Amino acid sequence: MKKLYFGSNLKMYKTPTETELYLQDLQERTKDISREEIELFILPSFVCLERAMHVTDADLIRIGAQTLHWEEEGQFTGEVSARMIEDLGLTMVMVGHSERRHVFGETDAEEAKRVQTALQHGFITLLCIGETAEEKEMDATEDVLREQLKVGLSSVTPETVGQVRVAYEPVWSIGVNGTPASAEYAGKVHATIKKILEELFGEAAAGIPVLYGGSVNPDNACDLIALPAVDGLYVGRAAWDAEKFDRLIREAMVKAKEAGK
Ligand code: PGA
Repeated sequence: MKKLYFGSNLKMYKTPTETELYLQDLQERTKDISREEIELFILPSFVCLERAMHVTDADLIRIGAQTLHWEEEGQFTGEVSARMIEDLGLTMVMVGHSERRHVFGETDAEEAKRVQTALQHGFITLLCIGETAEEKEMDATEDVLREQLKVGLSSVTPETVGQVRVAYEPVWSIGVNGTPASAEYAGKVHATIKKILEELFGEAAAGIPVLYGGSVNPDNACDLIALPAVDGLYVGRAAWDAEKFDRLIREAMVKAKEAGK
């Protein structure tokens, strides 16, 4: 069976105490699931990371940061460096979440610098990509994703390609006002992403997990995970209750097995 990836970005929700309770609950509920079959990762906000690391077993839940600055240190008030999160023992960082791009105005060129720094520090680096509703309407999805991948992953070498993960999160599908992508649409776009990754990295592309994110919920998780080019689910709101996330993971695993994955 192929390994499946399940993760959640806690965004600007959950205090350090809430994060601790959530992680303890999630770890307890999911500890019997073989980590040969799944990888589970959670990205709490920066101020929760230290406590998150204390309460989780790294073999059961990987803790990651929601972003990082590309410089090693400097006069960048409010920013957090790779060295800082490395010092906490983290092994993963996300770059280019849709809210970073579209609420805070981050560009592909900046994401590329973040990815480069994250890879240099040895982090598993999850690059988020996705088209806006306008880009989708203009039939520009493939071009947008190609650009985001080409620029964002421009520093990736044969030595670091194994650290890369991609999350496809169409901007129009994310959050309370989002509409989940249909399985048909997600399947088509995931196949395109795999094709682009192969153009960029050749055979090594097969080792890059591509996760779907954007309004994943108990009703659509099974159809999405069954798609051949979907290697995992990146879940927001539907994962923030440990019991619900545990159930979603187990149901998705059954469905993936049925689909021959
Ligand atoms: P959502 O968030 O599942 O709440 O839409 C997804 C995300 O932003 O990663």
